[in-house]
Amino acid sequence: QITGVRALQILDSRGYPTVKVWLTANDGTISVASAPSGASTGAHEAVELRDGGAEYSGRGVEKAVDNIRGEIADLLTSRSWGTLADLDQALVSLDGTPGRSRLGANAIVAVSMAAARAFAAAAGAPLHVWIGQRLGRGGRLPVPHFNVLNGGQHAANPLEFQEFMIAPAGAPSFADGLRWGSDVYHALAKRLKQQGLATGLGDEGGYAPAIARPEEALDLIVAAIEDAGYTPGRHGIAIALDPAANSFYTEGTYTVAGRAHSTDQMIHYYEKLIADYPIWSLEDPLAEEDTDGWPALTAALGNRVQVVGDDLFVTSADRVRDGINTASATAVLIKPNQAGTVSETFDTLTAAAEGGFGAMVSHRSGETDDTFVADLVVGAGCGQLKSGAPARGERVAKYNRLLEIQDENPDLPYGPTGTHLNDQ
Ligand code: PGA
Ligand code: ZN
Repeated sequence: QITGVRALQILDSRGYPTVKVWLTANDGTISVASAPSGASTGAHEAVELRDGGAEYSGRGVEKAVDNIRGEIADLLTSRSWGTLADLDQALVSLDGTPGRSRLGANAIVAVSMAAARAFAAAAGAPLHVWIGQRLGRGGRLPVPHFNVLNGGQHAANPLEFQEFMIAPAGAPSFADGLRWGSDVYHALAKRLKQQGLATGLGDEGGYAPAIARPEEALDLIVAAIEDAGYTPGRHGIAIALDPAANSFYTEGTYTVAGRAHSTDQMIHYYEKLIADYPIWSLEDPLAEEDTDGWPALTAALGNRVQVVGDDLFVTSADRVRDGINTASATAVLIKPNQAGTVSETFDTLTAAAEGGFGAMVSHRSGETDDTFVADLVVGAGCGQLKSGAPARGERVAKYNRLLEIQDENPDLPYGPTGTHLNDQ
């Protein structure tokens, strides 16, 4: 039973407003959550409510906060809730729009995340355990995917590809993987300085040097992995890319470092990158509207790398089922604020598992100190998380939460199962 609801406009890691919620239960327990916010959003994801007007460049969320204090608080305190699914369904019905644009997806997801914590607290379980029970999965610590070099919409440099991530798949544990990531992150800074490149940061805490060609970024990262004393590759530190191709695709053409590519040429380009560098995962390699391109790319490369749909699937169970039927990818990126509620996020995880898809849980480029995704990835047992660089408070909050979970549960396994990251 929820007896109190509090909401506030706070700032996210980019310095723009977002929503924070506190739910009080009848036993006095307070459950808190705040909404993250993306920059390179998919066309079909749930829609944030922004105030418009002059304040905060129109990005204020006071209307969303007022909706929580008003209609949503009335709903939440009107009855006792048997399950999170019931509560989430009631929020979706109250909103009444497909995109959650009336009450705001930012308002609804924050309430849903806080409510999940309230259910876990009422059950006397840590959030990751409660999530694992809901999904019927055993817990698992993820391979962290550290976004050490930023481009695209997350940085002001000329690099079109958005994310260059390192994944310490060969580490013996999560804590070791975190240390490996930190070592490489610092080795990369040294490399950049040696080459006269800037070490300023992008939105997710990775460096944002003024380079344009993906190969330059990959050469720097491979060199940094070696400088730090690790082995590039799946038995050591593998590389994952999120080009976020929507952002460099117009009218059938992908433009990378000044060169135009058709879909076929893009697939060949990725084939060459995969041959030349220890890349294990490719997220949004093509634009979401390139619907014929995705199955072609997956047929060509899916036996060598994981092909992840982010903007393509927007964490929608229906869109993932379509993707499974059309063999458009081999995995889905999981962002609760794309789905809209925690229950819908669970549905998408279940749809992925049923169809043999992998799943990678993800932060957003605009984040807070909320660590929900850390518990989510452990409970989901999918073994892959991306939460930015191993630096900056809002990014390391998630990794630090995973250190706590590992410390409290030393028997949890580490790493994904059934993905190319485990291939010999
Ligand atoms: P976003 O980007 O949070 O800015 O949408 C993250 C991603 O594309 O994975
Ligand atoms: Zn993405």
